Amino acid sequence: MEKLYEGKAKVIYPGPEAGDDPLSGQSPSGPVHPRVVRVYFKDDATAFNGQKRAQIAGKGVVNNQVSAALFRYLEAHGIPTHFVRQLSEREMLVKQVQIVPLEVIVRNRTAGSFARRYGVEEGRVLPYPLVEFSLKNDALGDPLIYDDAVLALGLVNGSELARIKELALKVNALLKAYFAQRNLELVDFKLEFGRLLHSAAPADERGAIVLADEISPDTMRLWEMGTGEKMDKDRFRRDLGGVEEAYQEVLRRVQAEPSA
Ligand SMILES: Nc1ncnc2c1ncn2[C@@H]1O[C@H](COP(=O)(O)OP(=O)(O)O)[C@@H](O)[C@H]1O
Ligand SMILES: [Mg+2]
Repeated sequence: MEKLYEGKAKVIYPGPEAGDDPLSGQSPSGPVHPRVVRVYFKDDATAFNGQKRAQIAGKGVVNNQVSAALFRYLEAHGIPTHFVRQLSEREMLVKQVQIVPLEVIVRNRTAGSFARRYGVEEGRVLPYPLVEFSLKNDALGDPLIYDDAVLALGLVNGSELARIKELALKVNALLKAYFAQRNLELVDFKLEFGRLLHSAAPADERGAIVLADEISPDTMRLWEMGTGEKMDKDRFRRDLGGVEEAYQEVLRRVQAEPSA
């Protein structure tokens, strides 16, 4: 099957053609609206900008299902996302977007690159959630970028920037509550946004900013409440062991009924 793109963790394939458009169903002869693509989740894991590579057995299955559950939850709470539906254990159907080349990071506690950059200990509770941007560019090592540079480089316009920050903070509030009910603390996470590609989309939806990519233990830090045990990709980055088990446990908590 022809690939549109293969990245470090996922492969993007062309979605169903017009005619069996799962979204509209009303325009068998017209253009698909919007265009959809299939995302396949691999077990490949990388860290430190690709320097560390391995396979985490079952990771793709976990990340697909966790992402699907979180996109459904966020959509139900008013966040526009690219998610259409889950297709199989490792595949989901999404609306194709033009990815904004920013990694949008939200932090509730100090950790990872933030703690290293500013020389602070990990785990300090921040007085309010921070939104941070990195330029999504592997060759440059995803450098930190500030608002004025984002705008000057034309990566987004002013209203898109405001919208991205607003959505990122809303997603944070929703996910924090979601994981708290599952005895996990959301320490930080990375989001990607895109502009909705159209064809026959209503004019007011064309170019609209939607949440894209994935939300999974690869892209979040989740700590067990009480013990602070790491339940995310840091187990792989830091050779803590129990990597597969942590991913499976996150999936189990996501699938369980909330407890609190
Ligand atoms: N709805 C979408 N439409 C088009 N591209 C997307 C969509 N969602 C995510 N992507 C892009 O697809 C790629 C997903 O594969 P991944 O393995 O994460 O790549 P990378 O190694 O670049 O992070 C990413 O580049 C991501 O930005
Ligand atoms: Mg990626």
